Amino acid sequence: MTLFDQIRRDQDRSPATGLRGLLRWLRHRLPTGLYARSLLIILLPMLILQTVVAFVFMERHWQLVTERLSEAVTRDIAAVIELLEHYPGEEDFANIVGVAASRLNLMVSLEPGTELPSPRPRPFFSILDQILSDEIAEQIRRPFWIDTVGTSRLVEIRIVLDDQTLRIFAPRNSAYASNTHIFLVWMVSTALVLIVISILFLRGQIRPILALANAAESFGKGQRPPEGFSPRGADEVRRAGLAFILMRERIERQMEQRTAMLAGVSHDLRTILTRFRLQLALAGDGPEIDSLNQDIDDMQSMLEGYLDFAKGEVEEDVGKLDLEELFERIAGDFALHDRSITWKLDGDPLVYVRPNAFTRLITNLASNARRYAGRLEIDARHTAKWLVIIFDDDGPGIPKESRDDVFKPFYRLDEARNLDASGTGLGLAIARDIARSHGGNVTLEDSPLGGLRAVIRVPV
Ligand SMILES: Nc1ncnc2c1ncn2[C@@H]1O[C@H](COP(=O)(O)OP(=O)(O)OP(=O)(O)O)[C@@H](O)[C@H]1O
Ligand SMILES: [Mg+2]
Repeated sequence: MTLFDQIRRDQDRSPATGLRGLLRWLRHRLPTGLYARSLLIILLPMLILQTVVAFVFMERHWQLVTERLSEAVTRDIAAVIELLEHYPGEEDFANIVGVAASRLNLMVSLEPGTELPSPRPRPFFSILDQILSDEIAEQIRRPFWIDTVGTSRLVEIRIVLDDQTLRIFAPRNSAYASNTHIFLVWMVSTALVLIVISILFLRGQIRPILALANAAESFGKGQRPPEGFSPRGADEVRRAGLAFILMRERIERQMEQRTAMLAGVSHDLRTILTRFRLQLALAGDGPEIDSLNQDIDDMQSMLEGYLDFAKGEVEEDVGKLDLEELFERIAGDFALHDRSITWKLDGDPLVYVRPNAFTRLITNLASNARRYAGRLEIDARHTAKWLVIIFDDDGPGIPKESRDDVFKPFYRLDEARNLDASGTGLGLAIARDIARSHGGNVTLEDSPLGGLRAVIRVPV
């Protein structure tokens, strides 16, 4: 789990009540990425607006226009019926039909009989049927039959006169606002264009933020910043980027200063120690001299360790490290010292770390097992995001209450155990330092082998 997940989980632990509960519920359902969120912020209002507009338009405008059109067609038909009633002659009929066809765009014919076909089932989504029926019923007040579905471009209307049936075909679009869908097509297509534009813009805005996040992440893992990182994008993002670069430089400068100082001090002390040793050699023999010599040896190895510790921090570049090769080398060393070791590796043996530092991290843990135990089992797992290496040994282990202390520089348990081991107590301190500078950590646990289990976990 990354620190980020941890923070988020801690936030989510606050009790759920009312609005806050709802907000948290929303937060869990909504996308978490900045890109998706910004897109939502743009799209949601647009969608709501368009839905409302479309609904109102359909409800009002479409209905109204269709009503007007149907009313007009019905009025024309009513006029034709009235004319037919007033001028019943054959010749008049032909004239009326002619005028209806040329001026009113109605195809009119008369058929004998007053039988109407059984009513057609109402089409599911057609306001035309409804409105036209209402208009005819209101204006003409005679039995009628309509078919708004059958012939697609025409609407058929039959109206019972005294002893005949009037059959009329009217163009569908003169009774019905038929091209309304154009409005919808325009609306949807402009929305699509808007979405594409906003996606393009958003990508441009979010890329610098992602670059900054990547740079900060790799700095946290102790890696070099990604090639060519420079603050870009909107003012605020640029400011954050600049602040990050300055911060990184300050930290690096501080680290360098401290390292240089440590190295300087250790080096000076070593010179003095050498002088001591020379003077002691001149002073002759004796038990006191021997014990002084022993102290100088101890101090010398402590200083050496310290110098190494300081050197380890000097910036090393990230490179390839072959774990298989390293484990082989450690196994050889164990064989030389008559200790047993097994190791297994899951995943790619090549890891991208600071090779010298990381080698030191692994050898420090392995050499502890070599020194304090008889057997070591290494289990390394390299996945896409993490490298986990577990060291199990069968030694005396480290009691729980000392597991924090042993990471302190120069802290050793061996004095209490009266072990005659010549460590300086820096091994674990250095190991943890290196793991942390890679963005990971070293932790200690109980081993199933009875001794100590040390676990390296680093993001790769
Ligand atoms: N595998 C282990 N089993 C038991 N005790 C351990 C083990 N590893 C470390 N320790 C204890 O933790 C102490 C600190 O270990 P650390 O590696 O930091 O120092 P060191 O081994 O004494 O010296 P150095 O590694 O600098 O030569 C050791 O003194 C030892 O008592
Ligand atoms: Mg050690």
